[in-house]
Amino acid sequence: MPIEIESPEQLGYGSIACNLAESSVSDAIYDDLGIDLGKLVLCYGDHLGKPELRELIASESEHIKAEDILLTAGAAAALFIVSTSLLEKTDHLVVMSPNYATNIETPKAIGCEVSYLELEFEQGFRPDLQKLRSLIRPNTKLISITCPHNPTGVMLTQTELEKIIQIAEEYNIWLLIDETYRDLSFGRKLPMGASLSEKVISVSSVSKAYGLPGIRLGWLITRSKALQQLFLAAKEQIFLCNSVVDEEIAWRFLLKKESFLPAIRAHVQVNFSLLENWISSTPELEWIKPEGGVVCFPRIISGSGIDINKFYISLNQKYSTYAGPGHWFETSRRYMRLGFGWPKKKEFEQGLKNISLALSESHTSE
Ligand SMILES: Cc1ncc(COP(=O)(O)O)c(C=O)c1O
Repeated sequence: MPIEIESPEQLGYGSIACNLAESSVSDAIYDDLGIDLGKLVLCYGDHLGKPELRELIASESEHIKAEDILLTAGAAAALFIVSTSLLEKTDHLVVMSPNYATNIETPKAIGCEVSYLELEFEQGFRPDLQKLRSLIRPNTKLISITCPHNPTGVMLTQTELEKIIQIAEEYNIWLLIDETYRDLSFGRKLPMGASLSEKVISVSSVSKAYGLPGIRLGWLITRSKALQQLFLAAKEQIFLCNSVVDEEIAWRFLLKKESFLPAIRAHVQVNFSLLENWISSTPELEWIKPEGGVVCFPRIISGSGIDINKFYISLNQKYSTYAGPGHWFETSRRYMRLGFGWPKKKEFEQGLKNISLALSESHTSE
């Protein structure tokens, strides 16, 4: 299944009045980054990735070294490399659901057995660790989790994370942690998973937290030398090395990321406050409050008398407003993913008003 087939970038950003379907912060503008690529040589790059950039990423933890890091074309390529390198038809995977599509679709395409660790609204979208244990089989090769989570915005506690790592170690299973939203944790961010155990593979990128999805720069981290060799071989077969332009921009940006993050966080906070107030005054909706990232996954209350199809048609066609419908995540269309980091305040405010209008006009009696 193509990812987010009706996504705003496919429809054309210019054709949408209020875009609440995005899952990152506002896109950065190159000129605002204060980066001049000058005499950058447009050669093939280091196959693991620009050494200075890998050192910078590694410097966050004393347990991670530059050689543990493989730069990739976004987190998406890292996830693809992990699945295609590790999983075979005879293997079994346990993956959180719902999830970012690649975490599910690539393993499914490989044809391995897949079990879902379902995140239920009624359980606050928290993973049931007893359930996780019960899903493990003799051929389970990989557990795949996302934290902070897309589409719910829910985060694991450090204790939950440590318990999941313990399970992976106990059963000798690789644990993939998609940490793409880590720098957008509302409270204290969790340590990079790979810094806690050799069984953990961390994946992240500059797309979501910094608004740089257009440079396609992500990474995976593993302390297993054998695994890193496998992943490097896969990368070489797919795209050999990263774009040196992307690497250079990401490196120079990350060197001074602390000067960009306060404004990014302030913007997210302003929209988040609007969102909280709006949800509490919208009787047709209920939600689990997110703890990180820039998306949440509210749902239309069952029995609230809303014609779901009518709602989305009205929202998209009459109000030119987009949210991520539940079917993007193979779940009920009662759910919608709302992105509160990407739109400017005015667009976000108008988008919320438009959702309210579309809801009020979609009661089945009307
Ligand atoms: C959880 C998660 N992981 C990975 C990705 C891929 O992001 P990118 O390839 O831009 O780094 C996304 C994008 O939406 C995501 O939400």
